[in-house]
Amino acid sequence: MKREAGSAEADSTAEAVDFQQSPEVVNDKIEETDNFLSDDGEARRLFLKQSLIAGGGLAAANLLLNYESTTQAQTMLAGVPVSQTATQMASMNALPVTLKVNGKAYRLMLEPQVTVLDALRERIGLTGSKKGCDRGQCGACTVLADGQRINSCLALAAAYEGKEITTIEGLAKGEELHPMQAAFIKHDGFQCGYCTSGQIMSAVGLLKEGCPPGMTVRECMSGNICRCGAYPGIVAAVEEVRGAKA
Ligand code: FES
Ligand code: FES
Repeated sequence: MKREAGSAEADSTAEAVDFQQSPEVVNDKIEETDNFLSDDGEARRLFLKQSLIAGGGLAAANLLLNYESTTQAQTMLAGVPVSQTATQMASMNALPVTLKVNGKAYRLMLEPQVTVLDALRERIGLTGSKKGCDRGQCGACTVLADGQRINSCLALAAAYEGKEITTIEGLAKGEELHPMQAAFIKHDGFQCGYCTSGQIMSAVGLLKEGCPPGMTVRECMSGNICRCGAYPGIVAAVEEVRGAKA
């Protein structure tokens, strides 16, 4: 039976090696794991390389890096130096990276494949930026880097050292909301709120970037998806703040 890469069955195969069992059993399991990694591994590698060629760019490169390190860790787990766990492997590759977020410097040890989004959420503890698709398609992770909007799920943290990163947590001044935050509340620019931090950060970036002539706010915010369909309120909020600024 063909196994799906990443399926529960495949994952359990990769993790099922119990080195307390007899050498024969362990060897069988290792062989099974190697087959999984080579069959599915080849297919996934091919897909990721095609994505790179087709213009998937950083997203695919990030996936490829992530996949390569996971595969390496799994192979080591199956291939005997049992003391070297995936965590140890990852920390061996960690780099010192200083991220400047909302005016504060954070000195971190990060693996090269860690994204700005994961660094913010999992290392620094700023969870306002959301992970929706994790592949650059929804905008829930939008933050500003030197004032420019970026999808932080596609940005490698090590490449953002020295840049001023602003997240939703850095917008308000104490109790005083940023005008865009206040306008979103005034115009009901959200429902469940999952996309809202990304929408607001994108809207704040847009204030500085400006919308090219002939383009609407909807078009200039098109990378930010709202599954609740709160678009009328979002557009009204952005237009109000843009109008007040003009
Ligand atoms: S989580 Fe980054 S674009 Fe969707
Ligand atoms: S408010 Fe729910 S996804 Fe936008």
